[in-house]
Amino acid sequence: MENLQNSQVKFYSGENVPLELHKVRMVQKLFLKPVDERLEAMKTAGFNTFQLSTKDVFLDMLTDSGTNAMSDNQVSSMLQADDAYAGSQSFYRMEAAIQEVFGTKYVLPVHQGRAAENIVSQAFIKKGDVIPMNYHFTTTKAHMELNGGTIFEIFTDEALKIKSNVPFKGNIDINKLKDLIKKYGAEKVSFIRLEASTNLIGGQPFSIENMREVRKVADEHKIMLVLDASLIGENAYFIKQREPEFKNASIKDILLTMCGLSDLIYFSSRKVSSTRGGGICTNNKDLFLKMRDLVVLYEGFMTYGGMSVREIEAMAVGLLETTDETVISQSPSFIAYLVNELDKMGIPVVTPAGALGCHIDAGGFLPHVPQKEYPAGALATAFYIISGCRGMERGTISSVRDAEGNDVLADVELLRLAFPRRVFTLSQTKFVLDRLTWLYKNRDLVGGLKFVEEPAVLRFFMGRLDATTDWPQKLVAKFKQDFGNSL
Ligand code: F0G
Repeated sequence: MENLQNSQVKFYSGENVPLELHKVRMVQKLFLKPVDERLEAMKTAGFNTFQLSTKDVFLDMLTDSGTNAMSDNQVSSMLQADDAYAGSQSFYRMEAAIQEVFGTKYVLPVHQGRAAENIVSQAFIKKGDVIPMNYHFTTTKAHMELNGGTIFEIFTDEALKIKSNVPFKGNIDINKLKDLIKKYGAEKVSFIRLEASTNLIGGQPFSIENMREVRKVADEHKIMLVLDASLIGENAYFIKQREPEFKNASIKDILLTMCGLSDLIYFSSRKVSSTRGGGICTNNKDLFLKMRDLVVLYEGFMTYGGMSVREIEAMAVGLLETTDETVISQSPSFIAYLVNELDKMGIPVVTPAGALGCHIDAGGFLPHVPQKEYPAGALATAFYIISGCRGMERGTISSVRDAEGNDVLADVELLRLAFPRRVFTLSQTKFVLDRLTWLYKNRDLVGGLKFVEEPAVLRFFMGRLDATTDWPQKLVAKFKQDFGNSL
């Protein structure tokens, strides 16, 4: 069945319900542990949701990375995988899928998105360079800085506003871009980076109109435009929904337009094609050759790049499915449902609803927790304790320290509740809404966190923290008072 779209199905009641346009054919059992056990699990995890074991997690909303549901066609494609060190047919099928979906001739396979960032940064960033972008991603920034580059985020004034009705908060501010190039000189700019569905500011898209303007500036100064396409499907969906010129365009044409405006595209397949792995693609042979040897050195031979051939097969099918609106609309429509319900109740949440997940404004949720006591981390731990649902801190813990050892306070303190594609149901979403409502009513009970073990690099992954007071115990006591024996 082609072209059945979520937006085509209206409810007689007028209710805006996200409808699942797939049936569930394989399931995994979930467990919801009692609240005392959840508190113990959180203590063992050092108040860091990355350190939880999935046996203790009910709904895993940490990320969509590697956790999207695969389609029946993806799973069955894995059976035809062609095991070979070099020249595997699986690679050629993936290359053909890339050509069809992104319109690029050359493909370099890598084991995941950050591997692409490593290769792109090594190939194109020189010490002292600057890299303008709509917003950084954690691993992107780390790789660029490791290669001696400095990143500049040149987002629009609207980008960091929590409550907004601006449809494209992921746009680049063109004047800031021009000023930056003038200040440093075009020769110091390694490239301009545009991230689709800008992750760290709430999964917010950019428009094609903005991309065209960025392209114009890039052409004037002969600067390369690099697209992080990890969440390109959702960005294309938002363009169709929100940019009038593309109202009647197919997702396939929107994807080709976005890619056609880029010199180089890289992506995490863990997101875009619901598999593992990643890739770098371009139509420019010189750019391809500059990166090719690095792929062989760091990732593996050109026709597998650190991935198994089974993953490559599923990736090819997943990429083709990115052009299917029933696939890429699923996560945004569930996110929009949760965001709109929370917003109606006055619970602070990033609007308009974006891609990847529902982003709760921890700063607004817990105004009594100072930023140096990590409100987003505190909200993530509190929410796990009272619901068994695991979200991700996207605030100051995900940031770094400056040369003097002080925290660089994040622009926004967000708790991200990810919606991997086609994984959760509406009643599970309602459970999340219910528990968040309870937590908001009891928000005064939530206190701050402090580091007890802090790694120097990407500290949010492996760091261990503790509560600043016995607030988690008090929160659990109130939960039991209100919920009795219920989980
Ligand atoms: N770029 C973007 C925009 C991403 O969201 C990610 C990963 C990467 C690059 C790196 O890709 O994980 O395959 O190495 N985002 C994940 C997340 C980790 O949870 O948002 P990777």
